[in-house]
Amino acid sequence: MTRSDNDSWDLASSVGATATMVAVGRALASRDPRPLIDDPFAAPLARAVGIEFFTRVLDGDIDTQIPGASPARTQAMIDGMAVRTRFFDDYFTEATAAGIRQVVILAAGLDARAYRLAWPAGTVVYEIDQPEVIAFKSETLAGIGAVPTATRRTVAIDLREDWPAALAAAGFDPAAPTAWLAEGLLIYLPPEAQDRLFDEIAALSAPASAVATEYVPGIMDFDREQARAASTQLRERGLDIDMGALVFAGARSHVMDYLTGQGWAVTGVPRAELFTRHDRVLPAPEEDDVLGEIVYVSATR
Ligand SMILES: C[S@@+](CC[C@H](N)C(=O)[O-])C[C@H]1O[C@@H](n2cnc3c(N)ncnc32)[C@H](O)[C@@H]1O
Repeated sequence: MTRSDNDSWDLASSVGATATMVAVGRALASRDPRPLIDDPFAAPLARAVGIEFFTRVLDGDIDTQIPGASPARTQAMIDGMAVRTRFFDDYFTEATAAGIRQVVILAAGLDARAYRLAWPAGTVVYEIDQPEVIAFKSETLAGIGAVPTATRRTVAIDLREDWPAALAAAGFDPAAPTAWLAEGLLIYLPPEAQDRLFDEIAALSAPASAVATEYVPGIMDFDREQARAASTQLRERGLDIDMGALVFAGARSHVMDYLTGQGWAVTGVPRAELFTRHDRVLPAPEEDDVLGEIVYVSATR
């Protein structure tokens, strides 16, 4: 399915299915003998979506081995989700230690941080995503008796619409410092929407706010055909996600420069450094790696 201006999805289709995919990654990473993260909600949420391929992966019925890839590379994909999740978990721990009590998770997907992190009393967590995604997560977690560990407020809207107005209507306080997160989002936004997103975040950020995201420096060279070939391999194994059609490639702002230009003090940590920090092995990139390097970014202002 190719993207269009007003496309929408649930967690089993289009961009929504990528949220389920990363939840599966968190579930597998949580089972690691040396876990960096503990997300007890990832597996029940991903199972509830009901994509057979992912359910079978979680059941251990399908080898998580990527066809043609070494076991080390497959493990590195799971470790990649572990270090990414841990980076943003640590970001929120630091933000709340610095006194921030207002959090906005953009494109929250099946992110269960509002239920699994130890938020200080008084913290409000806003989650923004498409209406079907938000409703599914709220209902599924309520159904298994999960209780948020902060005040959780949901904002069911497309980020291409007037989400700042919807956030304000949900109670967001622009005078309070905020910790923002845009995880696993930017490659699904057209380049100009990425800039607009950071402009809107900056406009809503009181002094002492923070923002975190990740970006793919090589997205300019993203090879749609290569991504299609990878998707074909997955389709043969029962998973129908065409990453080549979901991602917006081509020239876009360099995230760290863009944030710096807005007055943020920016830090970027390459994925390889996170692997070293957490004593994980990152195999050398292979020819068919679709995205290549990823840089994890946090900033304060
Ligand atoms: C790869 S998932 C990441 C989800 C979550 N941040 C995580 O890391 O687990 C991408 C998410 O972006 C959301 N998303 C992408 N474009 C969006 C848009 N225009 N409006 C609202 N949500 C969007 C999708 O619904 C999906 O939940």
